[in-house]
Amino acid sequence: MILALETSCDDTCAAVLDGSRVLSNVASSQAAIHERYGGVVPEVASRHHLELVNPIVEAALSGAGRELGGMDAIAVTTHPGLIGALLVGVNSAKALAAATRKPLIAVDHLHGHVAAAFLEPDPLEPPFLALVASGGHTLLAGVREHSSYEILGQTLDDAAGEALDKAARLLGLGYPGGPAIEREAVAGDPEAFAFPVAMSHGHGLDLSFSGLKTALVYTVRDLGEEAEGRRSDLAASFQAAVVSQLLAKLRRGLDAGGWEAVTLGGGVAANGPLREGATELCRSRGVRLKLVPIELCTDNAAMIGSAARFGEQVAYPDYLDWDAAAR
Ligand code: KG4
Ligand code: ZN
Repeated sequence: MILALETSCDDTCAAVLDGSRVLSNVASSQAAIHERYGGVVPEVASRHHLELVNPIVEAALSGAGRELGGMDAIAVTTHPGLIGALLVGVNSAKALAAATRKPLIAVDHLHGHVAAAFLEPDPLEPPFLALVASGGHTLLAGVREHSSYEILGQTLDDAAGEALDKAARLLGLGYPGGPAIEREAVAGDPEAFAFPVAMSHGHGLDLSFSGLKTALVYTVRDLGEEAEGRRSDLAASFQAAVVSQLLAKLRRGLDAGGWEAVTLGGGVAANGPLREGATELCRSRGVRLKLVPIELCTDNAAMIGSAARFGEQVAYPDYLDWDAAAR
């Protein structure tokens, strides 16, 4: 029985897990607070984590019908993320663990996104290929055991979610950008603008999204006043370019590694066209695709608890000097 905390970015999250079963998974999104700035303001995020962390932990415990004393261990994201935001989670978890003399487990946020696939229903067992695309990271990971993953390729500049967030801001669509672009794209033509699909030839399994963002900036500038009326076409074409690069790398990863199963993780894995494209790709290759529910794709604490099951339990008081790390 694990109580997990996750505060690496702008969501304050806590969850209770009984093995691979999620008993509760509570998240308080600060998106509405950050929306007026068009992105996450680190200091504002830290302050809200401080206000929210205790009520969210209580909600997770009561939602699971459990008490803190009934936990076998506490788990927390220690890296990577916004340093001030991470520190709130790490220190809260230390305090909860120390007060009850329970062991603490440090979790890598990206391992959490991979480990979401280990959760019920239909847990995926290694080996598998994971495409993790979030606001801070975009990578292909080879997963051969529960406790680790190997980075096979990653973005050389912006993350996919970061590109979507920046595009949404440019198009006046609000924050977070991914869902806003997806909604706007429904009414648009994905072939209206031919945005570059970077790295689709060569470059192994690495990705790049900064050129795409620049292409959008120039397109909007050249359209001038017309841009406003072409917003759905711009959103649809931009989304198509992001999704098509992700799928191209997933395809190449599958061909290179002989993988028999795939999962998608990270906030961008909530994207409908990406999920549909991956479904089609995996069907055509005869490969199993595990699509985790959307609430386990975007940041959450259940995935941190899932990774923690395969991490090292550190006994009291050896974790008291633990620190958070931005990278
Ligand atoms: O994993 P996550 O919740 O937080 C980080 O670890 O960054 O990912 C957040 C990112 C944001 O960039 C957001 O715009 C994107 O995931 N995102 C989406 C969708 N939902 C969230 N991108 C595309 N389509 C979505 N439906
Ligand atoms: Zn994340």
